[in-house]
Amino acid sequence: MREHRIVRPAPTKASWSDKPEKPSDFLLCASGLKKVYPRRFGFLGAEKEWVTAVADVSFFLRRGERVALVGESGCGKTTTALLLLYLVEPTGGEVLFEGISIYGLSGRQLRRLRPRMQMIFQNPYLSLNPRQRVERMLAEAIRVGQRAKMSRHEIRERSEKLLEAVQLPPDVLGRYPHEFSGGQQQRLAIARALAVLPSLLVMDEAVSSLDVLTQQAILHLLQGLQEQYGLTYLFISHDLRVVSWFCERVLVMYAGAIVEEGPVKQVFSHPAHPYTAFLLQHLQVHPTADLEAGPTGFFQGTWESGCAYRERCPRQKADCSFSRPEMVEKTPGQRVSCWNPL
Ligand SMILES: Nc1ncnc2c1ncn2[C@@H]1O[C@H](COP(=O)(O)OP(=O)(O)O)[C@@H](O)[C@H]1O
Ligand SMILES: [Mg+2]
Repeated sequence: MREHRIVRPAPTKASWSDKPEKPSDFLLCASGLKKVYPRRFGFLGAEKEWVTAVADVSFFLRRGERVALVGESGCGKTTTALLLLYLVEPTGGEVLFEGISIYGLSGRQLRRLRPRMQMIFQNPYLSLNPRQRVERMLAEAIRVGQRAKMSRHEIRERSEKLLEAVQLPPDVLGRYPHEFSGGQQQRLAIARALAVLPSLLVMDEAVSSLDVLTQQAILHLLQGLQEQYGLTYLFISHDLRVVSWFCERVLVMYAGAIVEEGPVKQVFSHPAHPYTAFLLQHLQVHPTADLEAGPTGFFQGTWESGCAYRERCPRQKADCSFSRPEMVEKTPGQRVSCWNPL
């Protein structure tokens, strides 16, 4: 994998005050990510149009951080996650993971790197194999991540340790996924993700389908596991209450681009982008609502001629339709892309 080591510095602005000092402090650096999907419509899908799911996304994750990615439904959060893990073919951009440019890797190199980045989905049951007992599921994952050959006995021991880490009793090894509750299934999904020894866990609405008490329990669990396993979290959620409690930094996404980022406390108490302010205001009325975009909901706009948010923005002015605003630092670590920030 050595030939893909990147020697040039990570692509962040030198003037940003929260830029990590050494390139090795970065776990991940995404720059200019773009994804355009073809969408077929009309009679027998004869016509084709292009949908920009991710227009231009750049950000970094420091090792050991808990970073949230928030934004309304359809703004491109899931696609961003899939791009970070190279689970969809990118249209443009670059991802550096542990200093390696992942889009340049061969299939074999990628298979070696993949266990280091794991994703947990909203519906744990769909991500578990219904015909596989827990024991086999964990054993397979442990084998993927193993650094030296392990005996059956060692694998069994490690499986039990993983179950202990996610607070499930060892006697569940003989059970099938459908024999568990939603919260327990999510614990299993977490155990399986940990089994391959990742350094990054991307959680896409991972606790959104769980009741509040189970959510709390899983989040506490994730907090504990982070230190124990030296993990970095990218936490995708539309529930800003959970984000403010669980994460340290937040990225606010709109129409396929990051419009504001910064420390959660600062961004949520003093939002700089009118869209962040709108999200926070909406939250007070509907605490856990997922904002629905699309034909029945909000139109998200595009970045081709100016700011995509301008049609919906109460602070719109003439500049907003000329060009796309650059990310500018407002307070230490808080950056905003807006011609007329708050
Ligand atoms: N496989 C796909 N084919 C075509 N369009 C897609 C596909 N996946 C997502 N999209 C579109 O891309 C946009 C962003 O989707 P997504 O990343 O799932 O957003 P989010 O996770 O924020 O709800 C949406 O308009 C969605 O309809
Ligand atoms: Mg999604």
